[in-house]
Amino acid sequence: MKKVITYGTFDLLHRGHVNLLRRAKELGDYLIVGVTSSDFDKNRGKINVKQSLMDRIEAVKALGIADEVIPEEYYGQKIDDIRNYDVDIFAIGSDWRGHFDYLNEYCEVVYLDRTEGISSTQLREDRNHISLGIVGASRDIAKFIDESKYVSGVDVIAVFPDGDDFNLAGRVPTAASLEDLLEKSDAVYVANAPARRYQTARAALKAGKHVLSESPVALAASEARSLFELARESNLVFHEAIKTAYALAFSRLTLLVKSGMIGTPVSVHATCTSQSFKSPAGSLIGWGPIASLPVFEILGTDYQNATAASLTSREDGTDVYTKVDFVYEGACATFEVGSGVKSEGELVVAGTKGYVYVPAPWWKTDYYEVRFEDLSRNKRYFYQLNGEGIRDEISVFAKTIQDGKKPNLDITEAQTVALSGLIEAYRDGSMTVHSLGLEAEGCGISFFQN
Ligand code: CTP
Repeated sequence: MKKVITYGTFDLLHRGHVNLLRRAKELGDYLIVGVTSSDFDKNRGKINVKQSLMDRIEAVKALGIADEVIPEEYYGQKIDDIRNYDVDIFAIGSDWRGHFDYLNEYCEVVYLDRTEGISSTQLREDRNHISLGIVGASRDIAKFIDESKYVSGVDVIAVFPDGDDFNLAGRVPTAASLEDLLEKSDAVYVANAPARRYQTARAALKAGKHVLSESPVALAASEARSLFELARESNLVFHEAIKTAYALAFSRLTLLVKSGMIGTPVSVHATCTSQSFKSPAGSLIGWGPIASLPVFEILGTDYQNATAASLTSREDGTDVYTKVDFVYEGACATFEVGSGVKSEGELVVAGTKGYVYVPAPWWKTDYYEVRFEDLSRNKRYFYQLNGEGIRDEISVFAKTIQDGKKPNLDITEAQTVALSGLIEAYRDGSMTVHSLGLEAEGCGISFFQN
């Protein structure tokens, strides 16, 4: 019996896939189809796949062409499969010509002509295409625009700088006003000055546009809550944009902690400092969204008490360093943020059985360790980081709009409201904030050169 094997993502199954599978089957007597898992695709940089692995496997099975369907989960699996299944022919579309010649050592490699004029990418783009407008202009927005190019079905169509002076010219056209931008867009990314975001997001939702808002989305809990209410009433998507929440390593580590691997979490300590990035609104507003993420994600938002200590800038009176301490029932947390200090940007989650250690800069990590008293039980976990999480953040936002359902990888409404509430309490004095005074003379320059 001649065995043939082929592999693919087979997202939104189309006639190109069917032709390929038929031709592959004709090469022998028994066809095995490997369907690429979402994690493996992400590792290869393919992040826009619309259907789950199970749905794609079921769709391939339903065609009745394959004799066996298996998931493809790791680099090098093709060699393992060819050996384990005693495969005679490896077949793949001609777009891969030459790429799999190395498999000739294990079996015959056949490249089959690709069907012209159709692909999953094209189907994804045709399906609910999203025109995205941006409010604000900054270095981070430039990065966001570059990352959006990896997300099929999303096009950044214009930017309204709203007073920001960073030059985005050449990247996207400029809209004359917010109204002009809203008119052209299906959805908007709100990333202007923090104090203006609430009004902007509100205007966008009122105009019937989906909103992805930089964090903090508002400087008061009631405002953040009202944005969610408005979105719900109008059946629109409203997401807070904290890129770290979408980084695979970070989301996996929170799941690992929740599953009890380190016992019950007792403390979370996160540090974020940068002397080359100074938020005009101060350290708590600039870094707080990222630094509070592991705290709220792991210990929840029902803390009993929070107190802060801040060092103030001589230049503009903003906080160049802030430390926040939270007390929970049975646990505590601390985060330190700042541009006027330099510290190790690490994250430590301590539990009753062990701890998680994420080295600096933890918010862009692709790696973490789980450590125990018994060193032999220590484990290291590695992941692929795609564009600091921005790519996945845009992709999840787009998918939520297109599929009309909330994904599980997300920042909850409670977390968004808690963060705005924390900033509100810090600013209006309802939380104890110890003053560390003014920063020392000559420390005001935040651009560091060595
Ligand atoms: N294929 C084909 N003709 C097409 C599209 C795909 O013969 N028009 C083949 C590919 O060469 C591959 C298999 O179908 O052998 C699975 O391809 P896959 O990557 O899942 O499909 P694409 O449509 O190419 O997906 P994407 O656009 O996401 O790359």
